[in-house]
Amino acid sequence: MTLPSLPTRADFPPDFMLGVATSAYQIEGHGQGGAGSTHWDTFAATRGNVIRAEDGARACDHLNRWEEDLDLIRDLGADIYRFSLSWARILPEGRGTVNAAGLDFYDRLIDGMLARGLRPAATLYHWELPSALADQGGWVNGDMPHWFADYTETVMRRLGNRLWSVAPINEPWCVSWLSHFEGHHAPGLRDIRAAARAMHHVLSSHGRAIEVMRGLGMQNLGAVCNFEAALPANDTPSAQAATARYDAIYNQFFLSGLFHGRYPDLVLQGLEAHLPQNYHDDFAHITAPLDWLGLNYYTCQRLREGNGLWPNYQSVEGPLAKTQMGWEIYPEGLHYFLTHTAKTYTGNLPLYVTENGMAHADHPDQPDLARLSYLDAHLRACLRAIEDGAPLQGYIAWSLMDNYEWAFGYEKRFGLVHVDFDSLQRRPKASYHALANGWRLR
Ligand code: FCB
Repeated sequence: MTLPSLPTRADFPPDFMLGVATSAYQIEGHGQGGAGSTHWDTFAATRGNVIRAEDGARACDHLNRWEEDLDLIRDLGADIYRFSLSWARILPEGRGTVNAAGLDFYDRLIDGMLARGLRPAATLYHWELPSALADQGGWVNGDMPHWFADYTETVMRRLGNRLWSVAPINEPWCVSWLSHFEGHHAPGLRDIRAAARAMHHVLSSHGRAIEVMRGLGMQNLGAVCNFEAALPANDTPSAQAATARYDAIYNQFFLSGLFHGRYPDLVLQGLEAHLPQNYHDDFAHITAPLDWLGLNYYTCQRLREGNGLWPNYQSVEGPLAKTQMGWEIYPEGLHYFLTHTAKTYTGNLPLYVTENGMAHADHPDQPDLARLSYLDAHLRACLRAIEDGAPLQGYIAWSLMDNYEWAFGYEKRFGLVHVDFDSLQRRPKASYHALANGWRLR
């Protein structure tokens, strides 16, 4: 069958790069290789948090199948592989004794990428906090920036010289707000004070990690934030005000901290009383200069006024076609964030789309045409953003393969490659082949 074609390498500026992304807990198989317990293991083991109480103990068994997986990435024609390192695999107690098998695994994995001509783009934290640190409050604890800096140093002394790029923390909003205010992700808190502290400590930890890596002489360091287009559900002033609050918490708080050294007033109205004392002092390292910014983008949200309690918004279902996650497909939002971020926060700093993709109830024998059209629309949004002046240098698809989708377990399939979670067989989908057709040739 002839596949619909996607924008190809030839459509983009000459140095533009394609990549695919994964994360450690979602693919490796955390029950193996001496990794320590994480807050995701215990969150998943608690009734009602994760569909069917599934966890990452086996996942895609990438720990043992990584060579096959790297071959798939090479054969796709990708330039970049964005992966993450598990803190608990490297330091099972979060601090102290190193699990040598864990560091050795990443050592081989990185060499495997380099041998295949792939640029290793590492993330230090993609959500699997060691339980020993969670026991002490995790991101709510003011010592986190020190623990995170120590972990960064342990990792980078061994691996830093072979990484193409590093971002300390994937999606500060998810790590803090989604996990400590909404309670949807580990540790499952719903507490405004915990959320405020986690939001600040995530940024402070980011800054400390950047300082450590600069001290080791490392380059090409960045940050990866997630964005959701915030749209008013109707044209009333109250819906617009609710949308502005949502946008400030989700889309502006972290960029404002990183690039402007302050937090937006709309967020401080609700959170200032709960932030750590003297939090301003930390902006000195939070604003440590970066070499690039990564944007993760999937969807939009329609907002109207909530029940009166800050942040006083609620989401309303929107009219557009939805993915298997129930997320509306809204590529205009990607164009908006790429152009708006450059204008408001980052200027000429290189931007990357570090995650974008869709979940679909794929059947391995049927072409994933919905994903093809999602990719097509979002790649075209990238092209338009470049035309409009955004310094976008790469697009990284989420995800290489179907994997553990957090609170949704294994049900939501985001992969370019289908994974049979019984046999663990990998089968490239039509979207993989269509991308490979347009990107394999350099
Ligand atoms: C992002 C996460 C990633 C994956 C996608 C669908 O928020 O970074 O791990 O779950 O969403």
